[in-house]
Amino acid sequence: MQLHTLLCLCFLSFFLTPLFQSQPHHFKPSQNTPHNEHIEVTYPPPSHQPTPSCTHQILHHTFTNTIDTSPYSTPYYPPLNCPPPWSRVTLHLKAKSKCQQYDRIAAVWLGGVEILRTSTPRPSNSKVFWNVRKDITKYTSLLTKSYLDLTMMMENSVDTELTGLYHVTVTFLFYNQNAIRVPFSPNSLSISSNSNSKSSSRFLMNELEVPYFRGLNESSPADLIIPIIDDGERGFWFRIEEENDLKKRRIRIPRNSYKAVLELCVSFHGNDEFWYSNPPNSYIKTNDLATGRGNGAFREVYVTIDGEVVGSEIPFPVVFTGGINPLFWEPIVAIGAFNLPSYDFELTPFLGKVLDGKEHVFGIGVIKGISFWLVNANLHLWLDHESSVVHASRVVRHSPKTNVDWTEGFAGLDGEFQVEAEKNTMVEGWVLSSSGNVSTVITKAFSFRNFIKFHNNGTYKMVKQRFKGKKKVRVTDNRGEMVSKLKVKRMYPLRVITLIEPFGLNDRYKLFTNFSHAFKEKYEGSCLINSISNVQESKGWIDVMGHSVLSGHASTKQNYSYADKFSCYNRNVLANNGRIVIDNSTFVCENAL
Ligand SMILES: *[C@@H]1O[C@H](CO)[C@@H](O)[C@H](O)[C@H]1NC(C)=O
Ligand SMILES: *[C@@H]1O[C@H](CO)[C@@H](O)[C@H](O)[C@H]1NC(C)=O
Ligand SMILES: *[C@@H]1O[C@H](CO)[C@@H](O)[C@H](O)[C@H]1NC(C)=O
Ligand SMILES: *[C@@H]1O[C@H](CO)[C@@H](O)[C@H](O)[C@H]1NC(C)=O
Ligand SMILES: *[C@@H]1O[C@H](CO)[C@@H](O)[C@H](O)[C@H]1NC(C)=O
Ligand SMILES: *[C@@H]1O[C@H](CO)[C@@H](O)[C@H](O)[C@H]1NC(C)=O
Repeated sequence: MQLHTLLCLCFLSFFLTPLFQSQPHHFKPSQNTPHNEHIEVTYPPPSHQPTPSCTHQILHHTFTNTIDTSPYSTPYYPPLNCPPPWSRVTLHLKAKSKCQQYDRIAAVWLGGVEILRTSTPRPSNSKVFWNVRKDITKYTSLLTKSYLDLTMMMENSVDTELTGLYHVTVTFLFYNQNAIRVPFSPNSLSISSNSNSKSSSRFLMNELEVPYFRGLNESSPADLIIPIIDDGERGFWFRIEEENDLKKRRIRIPRNSYKAVLELCVSFHGNDEFWYSNPPNSYIKTNDLATGRGNGAFREVYVTIDGEVVGSEIPFPVVFTGGINPLFWEPIVAIGAFNLPSYDFELTPFLGKVLDGKEHVFGIGVIKGISFWLVNANLHLWLDHESSVVHASRVVRHSPKTNVDWTEGFAGLDGEFQVEAEKNTMVEGWVLSSSGNVSTVITKAFSFRNFIKFHNNGTYKMVKQRFKGKKKVRVTDNRGEMVSKLKVKRMYPLRVITLIEPFGLNDRYKLFTNFSHAFKEKYEGSCLINSISNVQESKGWIDVMGHSVLSGHASTKQNYSYADKFSCYNRNVLANNGRIVIDNSTFVCENAL
């Protein structure tokens, strides 16, 4: 691929210190680049989105120079022509841009509750467009309300060189009860993503049971959702700049809450955009490197109630479209880039702390975090409609600090660094509501390992990371009978290798990168089981002189599979130099659960 490209200055430090830069270069519009839709491969594919009962466009806005300004807000009211109850509600974000611009972070909040965290492609060609679809049924208690604001922040910055604006439309799709049946292709038919699925003859009930009540009650959304957010002057997210920056909000919880799940929304930026590749500060200091990307390669986001840690999570490493090698993410973006994962903390065993009708302080912080993280949370509460006060108490709690082991060894720019961490927690509590006395037992465990190696005077860099986590929630009544159970296992392996090959000239070099990562999850609830395996592998190089990329090559392949008891879906995609060259999908597979 021929490129006529400018590099920003920050890219030079990549050569001196091979640390991944977020926005290494921007590309001049190129004539021969196709105007592809940028996509994140996910399930269900757009061709299998059922026809909604009604659609309601809520937001239509152009994000210009928005950094450090207030977010954009517009009133929300439920659709008049299809009143609740709904069996499902989907958010559809449609966006486009042209002219040079970096990738940008964005979020959508309804009444202060975050319903989407997303990022943009880089409009390096003359034009880009993309679509994001997310099931938002779990926010039904808000969606039925009027006089709420729908708020969106997209931190864009415009100057003489970066002139790209983002044109965004947000539409909600409502499905009422009798729209549950979804047209679906016959099981025996293997289709390619281009085929027309409208001719399908079979109906599949299961499609609406795709994992949309993750971690929450599978059969009903929460009655009330309280946001744990900043004041909203620059968006409702808190901006965490350092480890001791615990962000707090006082909230009061209804005394008849019998179940609580906190949904944590998080993204990492600036010096922590590639936290998993950051060497320790000792390496940076000893080698006198001009970078802030340090503090080692371990981060843990945690939540507190009145100063007590009630849950923590190692986030999935989402790579934005300017990350690692920007050519990798055209037109297939990295896993989660358009719909960042959120993390559920089951807080029911802690309800005893907060049911006294008083205000309590909820906090969010990042262990080892450096500037900057954007975090906020949604507290989902289920209320006892038969009584005004429920009683609750915690019985057992075992929650040690995360055990983290650091080892490092380096001489000059070469060296090896390793971080290993693990944690096992258990908490049990009971809640006495009008439906009886039920106990909730939650066990959580994770193991984490990160290994970084610099070689050949720092011109070769390898990062290998793995995360394995599992969570079990068991709810039993006072006769010991199971009320509900949930088991979730997740794995996020990641590997990056970069190699810088000098040409003998000071300002000319070739940069080779191999990257792979995956998101694997197995979910077993009381009435649904499913698994996702999403694997991406990218390879490529760029030839750099001074501030320009002279040429480059990139390919990304991805295997996505989804399976539950009734159906499964596989998609296999390969993109080469900005074009999709293979795209096979099938609803037939051997690995149905
Ligand atoms: C989930 O919701 C259903 C229907 O509202 C209810 O019967 C059930 O008890 C709830 N389960 C839990 C664990 O809260
Ligand atoms: C609820 O059940 C637990 C045992 O599961 C018991 O320890 C607790 O005292 C009960 N609470 C009430 C108010 O009866
Ligand atoms: C290693 O890299 C540093 C900084 O780029 C340079 O000053 C030094 O001469 C290099 N050493 C060797 C042996 O190439
Ligand atoms: C990337 O992987 C290929 C094999 O797929 C290998 O030949 C190449 O050396 C790797 N590049 C780097 C920088 O490790
Ligand atoms: C996807 O699966 C195919 C075989 O089904 C395999 O050849 C390919 O390497 C896989 N790609 C990734 C990225 O795992
Ligand atoms: C994938 O699709 C291509 C055509 O687009 C076809 O040639 C190839 O056989 C398919 N591969 C599989 C494994 O279905």
